[in-house]
Amino acid sequence: MSFIANTHSYLNQFKLDNKIAFLTGSTRGLGLEIAKALAQSGATVIINGRSRESVQRCQQALASENIQVHAIHADMSDFAQIVKAFKQIRDSFGRCDILVNNMGIRIRKSLADSTIEDIQTLIHTNLTAAVYTSRQAAAMMVENRFGRIISLTSIAGELARYGDAVYPVTKMGLTGLMRALAVEYALHGITSNAIAPGPFATETNRELAQDPEKGAAFVARVPMKRWGKPEEIAGAAVFLASGLASYINGQVITIDGGMSVNF
Ligand SMILES: NC(=O)c1ccc[n+]([C@@H]2O[C@H](COP(=O)([O-])OP(=O)(O)OC[C@H]3O[C@@H](n4cnc5c(N)ncnc54)[C@H](OP(=O)(O)O)[C@@H]3O)[C@@H](O)[C@H]2O)c1
Repeated sequence: MSFIANTHSYLNQFKLDNKIAFLTGSTRGLGLEIAKALAQSGATVIINGRSRESVQRCQQALASENIQVHAIHADMSDFAQIVKAFKQIRDSFGRCDILVNNMGIRIRKSLADSTIEDIQTLIHTNLTAAVYTSRQAAAMMVENRFGRIISLTSIAGELARYGDAVYPVTKMGLTGLMRALAVEYALHGITSNAIAPGPFATETNRELAQDPEKGAAFVARVPMKRWGKPEEIAGAAVFLASGLASYINGQVITIDGGMSVNF
């Protein structure tokens, strides 16, 4: 009997009731799955995408699954819009408890083929924008002496792949940011961790996943011999955001079906 009672209270620590969560770039793919899971765990969730239409479409789709979320449409690679988004969060919700740095773009090119514009766009969108977004969020979290920052990095960076030169640079940079946040803000009650996905069958990877040769060759390196399903990312995010992860700080959880440990 007492075991059941204890288990119940233990599992309760996964609950995110009364927490305000903001996820950059979360109208589809992994961000959307994390948004759903945080909302289903009790958090008040604010999704984000660039256009009013895309966030509204996403809100409606979630509402049809009985999941209510708020939305801010903003280009989170634009500094002025980042500031505006956090002002909206402050005005509407008073605070931000959980930030998921999910926004990320991909330009798969070798270094030789990458233009200056490719390089600058990738580094700015995937890294510089996350640095600035985290700075804004952390400033708000400090006021409440609580925060969880979760950044979506990648196995790319730890692993290199021919024809994909700059994206891994941004993801290793994001890992560095995640650790810097972990060290700088720990005494303010804020933790910072990363989730490093392997190959997930999201829109970004649709072409690769559907290519019979390249897609199969890619997945052959995964011990589980399949692409990750987007919903398989969400459990780690809920865990890292929850009370059960209170002493986990500066760490990377890799979710890749074992790809990165396969020799
Ligand atoms: N999929 C994978 O296998 C994989 C593997 C490793 C790492 N990751 C990382 O995981 C994260 C999510 O990947 P994903 O595949 O789910 O991405 P995705 O399907 O391409 O979704 C990207 C999201 O970002 C939004 N977005 C793009 N630019 C934006 C901007 N400037 N401002 C605001 N929102 C913006 C898009 O919304 P709108 O179009 O509505 O603006 C969309 O909701 C990324 O950081 C990615 O690098 C993914």
